[in-house]
Amino acid sequence: MNIDGTLYGRDDARVSVFDHGFLFGEGVYEVLRTYGQRPFLFAEHMRRLRASADRLALSCPLSDEDLLARIRDTVAAAALPGDAYVRILLTRGVGEIVYDPAACPTPTLVVIVKPHVDPPVEAVRGGVRLALASVVRNHPGSVDPAIKSNNLLNNALAMQQAYREGAFEALMKNHRGELCECAQSNIFVVRDGVLLTPPTSAGLLVGVTRGFVLECAADLGVPAEECVLHETDLASAQESFLTSTTREIVPVVRIGAQTIGDGAPGPVTRRLMTAFAAAVPSRLS
Ligand code: PDD
Repeated sequence: MNIDGTLYGRDDARVSVFDHGFLFGEGVYEVLRTYGQRPFLFAEHMRRLRASADRLALSCPLSDEDLLARIRDTVAAAALPGDAYVRILLTRGVGEIVYDPAACPTPTLVVIVKPHVDPPVEAVRGGVRLALASVVRNHPGSVDPAIKSNNLLNNALAMQQAYREGAFEALMKNHRGELCECAQSNIFVVRDGVLLTPPTSAGLLVGVTRGFVLECAADLGVPAEECVLHETDLASAQESFLTSTTREIVPVVRIGAQTIGDGAPGPVTRRLMTAFAAAVPSRLS
C-alpha cells in the first residue's frame, strides 16, 4: 500500500477519518491490473482518472510518469507471486467537516496493491448469470456514472441483489428503462453477428476494457455498434458478455429470467476472448 508516497503494510495503511473521501465519498478511483509487474492499458486509465477528477474540481498531484513510478514501486514492494490488482484512490483530502474544497488543501493519493484474482474458471468456460437489478443506475445529471467516483452506493445496492439471487453480477437499467451497465462491468450482446453495447449517452462508466474490446472487434472485422438496448432485446440476442479490468471478458448465458441464445458462450465471444489475450502484450507499460 502507498499513501501519499509512503509505503505501508496491509495492516498499517491508515487514512484519517477527516478525509473527505471517507466523510463524503468525495474522491475518484481507478482499478487497473498488471500482467507480471507491468500495468495494462495504463494511459487509458490515467486519462479516465484525470477526467473523473476534473468533474470534481480535484487535481491529481502527480504526472502520469510519476504515478506510473509510484505504482511500480508499490507493486515491487508487494512482491506478489503473480499479477497485481492496483486500486488508485484520489480523494479531496483531510479537512474540517464542511463541503468547502478550500478546507482540504492537499488531496490524498492511495495506491492499493493486492493479488489479482481471475474470475472462476467455470464462469469463463460456461458463462454466468446476471441479476436484473431493481435499483436504477444513477441519473447522469446526479452523480454521473461516467465519473469513476468513490460514491459506490448505487453499485453496492445492485450487487446486494446479485448476491441474494446467487448471480455473478447485476445488470442495471438507466432512468429511461434502457439497459445500461452492470454494477462493476459493462455489458455487450451479439445479435445477428453484430456486437452491440449501450451508448455512453445511456449514462454509464465508459469502461477501459469496453474500449479495448471494441478495438479487438475492429481488428477481427466483427461489426460493432453502440445501440440503445431494452430488456426485450435480450430475447433476440444470440450471445452476451461483460467486460471489466479484473474480469476481461466473461460470457453471460442468462440475464434475469431470459436465457441468452442457446445458454452457452457463443463463437463471437470466444473469438474476442482469444483476440484480447493475444493483444495484451502490446499494451503493457
Ligand atoms: N469496475 N462499469 C462500472 C460501474 C464499473 O465499476 C467498472 C469497473 C466497469 C468496467 O470498467 P473497466 O473496463 O475500465 O474496468 C464498468 C472496476 C474493475 C472496479 O470497480 O473494481
